[in-house]
Amino acid sequence: AHRACAQRLAKGMREDCGFDDVSIDAVGNVVGIYHGTDPKAKRLLTGSHFDTVRNGGKYDGRLGIFVPMACVRELHRQGRRLPFGFEVVGFAEEEGQRYKAVFLGSGALTGHFDMTWLEQKDADGITMREAMAHAGLCIDDIPKLQRDPANYLGFVEVHIEQGPVLNEIDLPLGIVTSINGSVRYVGEIIGMASHAGTTPMDRRRDAATAAAELALFVEQRGASVPHLVATIGMLEVPNGSINVVPGRCKFSLDIRATTNEVRDACAADIRQALKALCERRGVHYKLEETMRAAAAPSAPEWQQRWERAVETLGLPVFRMPSGAGHDAMKLHEIMPQAMLFLRGLNAGISHNPLESITNDDTDLCVRAFQNLLEQLATEQQ
Ligand code: GLV
Ligand code: MN
Ligand code: MN
Repeated sequence: AHRACAQRLAKGMREDCGFDDVSIDAVGNVVGIYHGTDPKAKRLLTGSHFDTVRNGGKYDGRLGIFVPMACVRELHRQGRRLPFGFEVVGFAEEEGQRYKAVFLGSGALTGHFDMTWLEQKDADGITMREAMAHAGLCIDDIPKLQRDPANYLGFVEVHIEQGPVLNEIDLPLGIVTSINGSVRYVGEIIGMASHAGTTPMDRRRDAATAAAELALFVEQRGASVPHLVATIGMLEVPNGSINVVPGRCKFSLDIRATTNEVRDACAADIRQALKALCERRGVHYKLEETMRAAAAPSAPEWQQRWERAVETLGLPVFRMPSGAGHDAMKLHEIMPQAMLFLRGLNAGISHNPLESITNDDTDLCVRAFQNLLEQLATEQQ
């Protein structure tokens, strides 16, 4: 499905939108370039991801590829070139679902694709190297994908909000001020599997109830500070049985906050709680940090361009932080970035098939992007 989606995007860029140069790169990103009047001119970089969480929605990521594609289609229809190049990337991986790694697509562009990740195995024992080779990707070329920021004006990303704010205030577009910092862990509590009928309650080393105690602490600690969130999204008793006290329990942990300090203080408290509860319960634990992304404030001049674009449409300028992570956090490490959010329906639900948007809102989003392109065109003349 992933490769079919990449082919479909590439075909859409090439045949429906009139990009000059379309390719699928060594990490699986779909890259479309619409040259400016001078093909050597600096480029505006944009895009979002086309991977998805299990049973996710249709728009998380894809919107940020289709909106700039629509802009190129219109430029091409008018036979118009901008005084800068326009590079649209469908990032191959952002969600961190299959391996203990994340931002594989955008990380390759920033030079942060860690080649040791290739030896990681998925739940079925397939290494990332095998999966990528099977997909026909030229793994050895990944380091060559690193972009030189000197060749770019900056990075912008359009994304659905994935939260309730815009829907509640009845606004189609919001301007992102900063993307929350995050950290992720995978862990395991190791107790002692034993007979559920014969092991008295006071002699148990139950890994699952230890994990349950941790989950309650995580929930309470996450709720203790505004704009901090903490989630145990995966919980598993491997090979559990109805009549066996759980000997092992695997879990994941995801912590996010508007500042790195608030995130790190929460992470430290949760690690301390895990240590203390495991000692008290006589169980062991392992905890591995799998991802850490710094909070990414928008570049002021790029945020202002989105604000002007929204204002030009006659809409109020509404600024908000992003609770979700985005490829823009990765590009943030090498170039200025700013994001535009589109309202989600159904109370803004996301990472759920109920995720939804309207055509009218999306039309406004495309117009805002076109306006940003016009501003840049004026500035670059
Ligand atoms: C990506 O969707 C993330 O914020 O986890
Ligand atoms: Mn997502
Ligand atoms: Mn996303």
